[in-house]
Amino acid sequence: MAGRGGPAGRGRILRRSRQADDRGLLPPDALVSFAALRAESGIDDVLASLDRELVGLQPVKTKIREIASLLLVSQVRERFGLVAPRPSLHMCFTGSPGTGKTTVGLRMADLLHRLGYLDQGHMVAAMRDDLVGEYIGQTAPRTKKIVNEAMGGVLFIDEAYHLHRAENAQDYGKEVIEILLQMMENDRDKIVVILAGYKDRMDAFFEVNAGMRSRIAHHLDFADYDLEELEAIGELILGQSSYYLSDGAVKVLRDYLGVRMSQPRFAHGRTVRNALERAQFLHASRLIADAERPWSRDDLMRLEDVDLIPVLAAAQDVRAA
Ligand SMILES: Nc1ncnc2c1ncn2[C@@H]1O[C@H](COP(=O)(O)OP(=O)(O)OP(=O)(O)O)[C@@H](O)[C@H]1O
Ligand SMILES: [Mg+2]
Repeated sequence: MAGRGGPAGRGRILRRSRQADDRGLLPPDALVSFAALRAESGIDDVLASLDRELVGLQPVKTKIREIASLLLVSQVRERFGLVAPRPSLHMCFTGSPGTGKTTVGLRMADLLHRLGYLDQGHMVAAMRDDLVGEYIGQTAPRTKKIVNEAMGGVLFIDEAYHLHRAENAQDYGKEVIEILLQMMENDRDKIVVILAGYKDRMDAFFEVNAGMRSRIAHHLDFADYDLEELEAIGELILGQSSYYLSDGAVKVLRDYLGVRMSQPRFAHGRTVRNALERAQFLHASRLIADAERPWSRDDLMRLEDVDLIPVLAAAQDVRAA
């Protein structure tokens, strides 16, 4: 064991209690490696579960790793008494509905908490109606209440561009934006704001809200999923609740997704989840209907093509209409 001020063991992180000088700092000649620090913070668990539980989203995962790396290095710099500036971590998540923005927001809150950036790992999601009042005097208290709830965690604002209504000079949304701008600057060590929405509308929003643009340091774009990714999302969602698809059901799900992908209101992961939830109802009804027949554990887990065919048919009806 390296003693106080003594040589540091390579491949080992130095514990502050053993290595610290009087100010709790590491000696300048100490050497650190990150493996133990990563394990200690639990971030490897978060990053591994991101990889395991989220299909695709490579650029998003890379960005999250970058943020995690910077914060870890920052922690160690601090232990050496080096300047460790807190990076601004307000973010913008753009992408189509159901591409995982809210899911990643929750993970981000957890990660930033584990890395010591946020005191708590919670996320408060809000939209225009949660923030903007109907009458004069309502907006500021409403917004401040939500902001207070989110303090120590992440404030996630869905469809942030709805806050701003350029056509209406009297719009109270302007008040929300002013409060947010101030808070994003003054409380940036206590809260992370994530604005989410469609890419083109978010870009337009930033065009007219330069203050907002300048406070958002990280832009993460969530790409549309392809058919294979949607199928993988489906299998993942089912696996998490101990269901699986028979080979026949896999084909019907593929057909269903093929139809739905070209329809309006297609919502990627959410559409997959909804279809599979519907299939679970149909599966349950099928088993119950055959009351005398003995069903096995595997029968209880396996969704058959017949459990998805009505779901596919409903989507085809919409197309025909
Ligand atoms: N990459 C993914 N891997 C696994 N599941 C996913 C993935 N992306 C989305 N999902 C699932 O799809 C559903 C919708 O995701 P989520 O609510 O995060 O999307 P969103 O981008 O916030 O949508 P919206 O823009 O409509 O708010 C969730 O149930 C989520 O678990
Ligand atoms: Mg969402």
